Formats: sequence, C-alpha cells, structure tokens
Amino acid sequence: MHNTIFTQNLSLHFASRQVLDNISLHVPEGEIFGLLGPSGAGKTTLIKILTGQLAPSHGYAKLLGRDTKKLSAQEHRQIGIMMDNFGLYDRLSVYDNLAFYADIYQVSHSSIDGLLKNMGLHESQDTAVSKLSKGMKNRLSLARALLNNPKILFLDEPTAGLDPGTAREIHSILAEQKKKGATIFLTTHNMFEAEHLCSHIALLYDGSIIERGTPDQICQRYNHLNKLRITLKDGKAVTLDNGKASAITVKEYLENEKIAAIHSTEPTLETVFMELKNSQELKGV
Ligand SMILES: Nc1ncnc2c1ncn2[C@@H]1O[C@H](COP(=O)(O)OP(=O)(O)OP(=O)(O)O)[C@@H](O)[C@H]1O
Ligand SMILES: [Mg+2]
Repeated sequence: MHNTIFTQNLSLHFASRQVLDNISLHVPEGEIFGLLGPSGAGKTTLIKILTGQLAPSHGYAKLLGRDTKKLSAQEHRQIGIMMDNFGLYDRLSVYDNLAFYADIYQVSHSSIDGLLKNMGLHESQDTAVSKLSKGMKNRLSLARALLNNPKILFLDEPTAGLDPGTAREIHSILAEQKKKGATIFLTTHNMFEAEHLCSHIALLYDGSIIERGTPDQICQRYNHLNKLRITLKDGKAVTLDNGKASAITVKEYLENEKIAAIHSTEPTLETVFMELKNSQELKGV
C-alpha cells in the first residue's frame, strides 16, 4: 500500500524560531492518522505545510507522491480541508457557501442537498454563517471539506468544543469516509477520538515528534504506568505499582484482611500523554 502522505526531515522556522523540527512521517492510503500535542506544538502549522499553504524551511512533504509546494489544481481537488477560519464566508448562507465551492470544484449542486441532510444542516440552509452555532459551523466546515469527495481529508480539531452528540455524529461521518477509502489526517486534544478513531497517532511536542505508533502500542510501551488501586476497609485509598515491588505490601493487606476493593488501572493515552508532557517539561528546565 503506498503512502498518501509523506514527510521527510521536515522543519520550519518562523524568523529565528524553530516551529517544526525534523518531522518524518508517513500515512498509508485509507488510514486515519491522529496528530496530538499541547497547544502551540505545531499541529496546525504542519497541516498548513501538508496542504500547500506554507512551505517548509528544510525537508519536504508529499501528497500522493507530489511535493506539496507544487500541488496542481487537479491535486487540490482531491483534498478536503477543515480548519478554523478556512473557506467559510460569514455573510453567505449555508447553502450559498456550499454552492460557491461546488462551482469551484465543478461539482453538481444536486449533491449539496444530500450533504446538508447528512450533516443535519438542511433546516439551516438559508442561515448566514455568522449566525450559526459553533457546532453547526463545524458541520458546515466538514460538509465543505467533503463536497468534492476528496481522497485525503485534513481536519484540524474537528470536534473541539462540540457537545458529545455532535462529536459522535462527526466521528461516524469520518468512519464512513474511511470506509469509502479516504485517508484522513486529523489533529485532536480528544483522547477518545485518538484512541477509537485513529489507526496510528503521533505526539508532537514543541515541534518534534516524541512518540508514535498505534494507540495500543503506545499504551503498552508505558506499562510502568499500570497501577493497583486499593481501597482499605478503614476507607484509606492506596495506589501501588502493579509489579513485584508491591508484593509485600499487598500480602500484608491480604493476610490481615484489610482490603475492601482492588483494581488494576491500565495506562491510557491520557496518562501516557501526561507523563510525556511532564518529562518534556522537566527536560526543558
Ligand atoms: N505565521 C506565524 N508566524 C510566527 N509564528 C507562528 C505563525 N503561525 C504559528 N506560529 C507559532 O508556531 C507555533 C505552533 O503553532 P500552531 O498553531 O501550529 O500550534 P498548534 O499545535 O496547532 O496549537 P493549538 O493546539 O493551540 O491549535 C506557535 O508557537 C505559534 O505561535
Ligand atoms: Mg492548532
């Protein structure tokens, strides 16, 4: 299977500031790839490079084998982009925004109706974008990105600030797109999204990728975060490493019948993420 998205030793400086440092990644066709990382890590900037809106200072990025600095109009038509303030006209209605792009992409207006229904925007089709709620704007932004039936979708925090119901609708639309063969590159702060939607994820910290793999692989790598949480009969809660070192303590609890409840907690992406963030912050001091 060939790589739809590929970067090699990609770096970007803004003036003297390094914003992306030596990023090499690949996303095979048909995969959902998630880029995680704290605010300011460089996620949006990387999407801008991958979609040809910014050029890297060093290295390169390729989409469908083509350098993103040289994407043709034909290649742009195969890309859908959903990011803040991207391509929505506040004063135009929901319908007119989509009609405008349908003309640019030479897509028949007849597909707009279906998209509006699918996104739950049919009843708001005459509303100006400036009067939409955040969730509606996000859905319109996704509709706009899907209008040209793209092979590759770039989604910058597609569910940020949305209620769980709307977020779930967006997740099922993305799963549907994956089924249709689209390759999806998304950024997120949402660990559920990363864990359940993405085949592979990478963690970006201060412009560098500091961890990558499938969500399962990453969690297994941090197995030392696996803990035992014990509630004692006197109400005290104790957290111990789930390993040999805790055996004597647990034996003592068992022999004296002190334990009311005992659970093991697996590392989650969230605990791994927090540990990595803390260790990077310590390194930076
Ligand atoms: N045009 C620009 N000129 C100078 N610096 C910029 C520019 N665009 C972004 N930056 C800087 O690059 C860094 C990365 O920004 P970016 O928006 O990519 O982060 P992010 O990971 O998307 O954060 P968030 O999660 O908050 O969206 C930030 O420190 C930001 O201030
Ligand atoms: Mg961003």
